[in-house]
Amino acid sequence: MDIEKLERQFAAYFNAKSEIVVRAPGRVNLIGEHTDYNDGFVLPIAIDRAIWIAIRPRADDQVRLFSLDLKTGSAFQLHSLVRESGWIEYPKGVANELMKAGYPLRGFDGIMAGDVPRGAGLSSSAAVELATARAFAAVSGFEWDARKMAEIAQKAEHEWVGVRCGIMDQMASAACKEGYALFLDCRSLEAQHIPLPGSVSVVVLDTSTRRGLGKTAYNLRRSQCEKAAQWFGVKKLRDVSVEMFEEKSRKERGLNKEALKRAWHVVTENARVLEAVEAMRNEDMEQLGGLLNASHNSLQNDFEVTNEALDVMVECAREQEGCYGARMTGAGFGGCAVALVRREKVQEFEKAVERAYRSRLGLEAGIYICKASEGAGVVQK
Ligand code: GLA
Repeated sequence: MDIEKLERQFAAYFNAKSEIVVRAPGRVNLIGEHTDYNDGFVLPIAIDRAIWIAIRPRADDQVRLFSLDLKTGSAFQLHSLVRESGWIEYPKGVANELMKAGYPLRGFDGIMAGDVPRGAGLSSSAAVELATARAFAAVSGFEWDARKMAEIAQKAEHEWVGVRCGIMDQMASAACKEGYALFLDCRSLEAQHIPLPGSVSVVVLDTSTRRGLGKTAYNLRRSQCEKAAQWFGVKKLRDVSVEMFEEKSRKERGLNKEALKRAWHVVTENARVLEAVEAMRNEDMEQLGGLLNASHNSLQNDFEVTNEALDVMVECAREQEGCYGARMTGAGFGGCAVALVRREKVQEFEKAVERAYRSRLGLEAGIYICKASEGAGVVQK
């Protein structure tokens, strides 16, 4: 991001100088999909694509924001929030939850810009939420607590926006460290930073298909998981081991086949994340790649959240030399896949996948080689 340009645009729009620039990244999840709302494990990295806001504190309780990407401005008053629609609901929802949690907020003017593709499964909305929270912390002078802010942002999605998402995206955007993946226990929110081996590139493969009915399907998957947990007699599917699953499903009936398949994905995926962390610690890329492949197969056949484009993209990636493994990432139903590729092969990989994907589906792939970046913060100039 050209920060000076952002500041110039602030000056042109608000006729004053901005004082602070904040940034919050999108994320790509390496493994652990649809496990977060089951109190399970995830392993995302923050990517080097983000949302930036240049801001200037105000003396009153107004928040005025202009989105350079959408070319629209919007405003709200902190003490009389009204639910409307559109992108401004994310900042508004965050303001609402911060105030409910007792943070005294000040208003600000802001210009927002970013390069996280929207609706692609790279958490552009979590990036907007965390950038807003970071902006409020900066202008209102409260201490930044990554975990608390992630929880606030998640609540904003639940209560204000109406999506019952897990905590992964917000924690990744808030708490990741440059060069590391975030191994997160979504029950305790205990986080460990696992170094990303230098020999490997993380490549995001955008299918250029978008979610569509994703929100409904997402909430449906979530309730199927809850039903399954009830049947197993546990709080969340996190509490079911592979052995428990096999034993109970062999002996008893009563849960429909579909919910059983969903649960099997979650139970095996949690086990895969733990193995993936070990593989990463041992820099065993073959093993890590194999786990990514198994994760995709499980999301395709048992959790059923892929689409044709994701399946084809993953096949195109796996065919290439130097690819350790590939899988869909994020909620699914369209959006992006992620591949782990041997660093010196990554340029060839990019071209070959582009070509293969175009020839099989007639669609253009968007390919980004990612760096594991730092979570939300104030941009130091
Ligand atoms: C979306 C949600 C996350 C998580 C993933 C699937 O990104 O926001 O909380 O559930 O889907 O792993």
